[in-house]
Amino acid sequence: MSIVSPTPEAIARAVELLRAGELVGLPTETVYGLGADAMDPVAVGRIFTAKGRPADHPLIVHLPDAEHLPRWASRIPKEAIALANAFWPGPLTLILPREDEVPDVVTGGQATVGLRVPDHPVALALLKAFDSGIAAPSANRFGRISPTTADHVAQELGDRIAMILDGGPCTVGIESTILDLSRDEPEILRPGAIGVDDIAAVIGRRPRLRGGQVPDTGNNAAPSPDVAPAGDSAAPRVSGSLAAHYAPTTPLLLIAVEHLFDEAVTLAGEGSRVAVLARTASDPGDPRLTWLCAGPQPTAYAHDLYANLRALDAIAADFILVESLPTTPDWSAITDRLGRAAVGSGETDET
Ligand code: TXA
Ligand code: MG
Repeated sequence: MSIVSPTPEAIARAVELLRAGELVGLPTETVYGLGADAMDPVAVGRIFTAKGRPADHPLIVHLPDAEHLPRWASRIPKEAIALANAFWPGPLTLILPREDEVPDVVTGGQATVGLRVPDHPVALALLKAFDSGIAAPSANRFGRISPTTADHVAQELGDRIAMILDGGPCTVGIESTILDLSRDEPEILRPGAIGVDDIAAVIGRRPRLRGGQVPDTGNNAAPSPDVAPAGDSAAPRVSGSLAAHYAPTTPLLLIAVEHLFDEAVTLAGEGSRVAVLARTASDPGDPRLTWLCAGPQPTAYAHDLYANLRALDAIAADFILVESLPTTPDWSAITDRLGRAAVGSGETDET
């Protein structure tokens, strides 16, 4: 494995590797991806082995632009075109009925495929040079914290991939919004930087949230989208909808701000090593506590979230205490990730 600067030569080499069925780590604006030629089932199979990901979990196919859609999707509703025009390149994945040619290993054998055009100059240069779809999940081992730098990818999968293109830290920092347009009602399967209101403004109707109801106008974060997988067996599967995901190995607890300091000090007094991810509460300067304050602004908080969790996980504390978040829509994607991180935390990795 090598982390390489994304020179034209490195991009050309990455294209050669993809054509040869190898895996390439690539930056996107959301998180780093683990890429393979989406039309090559053997290459895509290597992604599952490298990540330790269950074989029935479908992958997102990254495209150079919306013009490539007809090769992958058998039906492209007007709403998909409107959303692609509005948000691509960008952090929105559309679930559409698949073309027959798309390998089963990409779609998890489902009748749909997830598609997006990432907003990152290195990803776009690679996709344009490759001139086809790159299947890429987040470049972490299954269930663990998504990588937002090339170094994170190397830590997660360095021994398992041919090359990592270094595109610097990801600007958004959390995974794309996933919108299912394959059925009558548009439905958000995973919240992200593009919210319900952004989508409604383009298509003129409000998507449902998976596991929730049609959100109200205005404050629409309330029905926290599915902490458990929805029971609808016809619904597409989303691995990010497992209750436990995005998880550090240190147990992670969400604590209301008014109890944060007391809880931290109590645990430290019992001899525990305590890390704190605060939002508004500034560092009290207690030498027993490792205290990070991520700040009150959701875009910046999302940008730093996974790097902060990784840094706190690395100090091998007994607990990570996270200051709980507002219930407004601009925090819903972060609330979703932290809720799943809390459920999956503290387990040792077996893959
Ligand atoms: O921002 C992102 O989306 C990042 C970057 C690399 O593009 N990718 C990412 O991939 O988060 P991954 O594999 O970690 O998560 C993709 C999610 C999974 O939860 C998967 O189940 C869902 O997309 N997905 C993919 N195809 C689907 C389909 N046909 N139906 C339903 N869900 C699908
Ligand atoms: Mg992932």
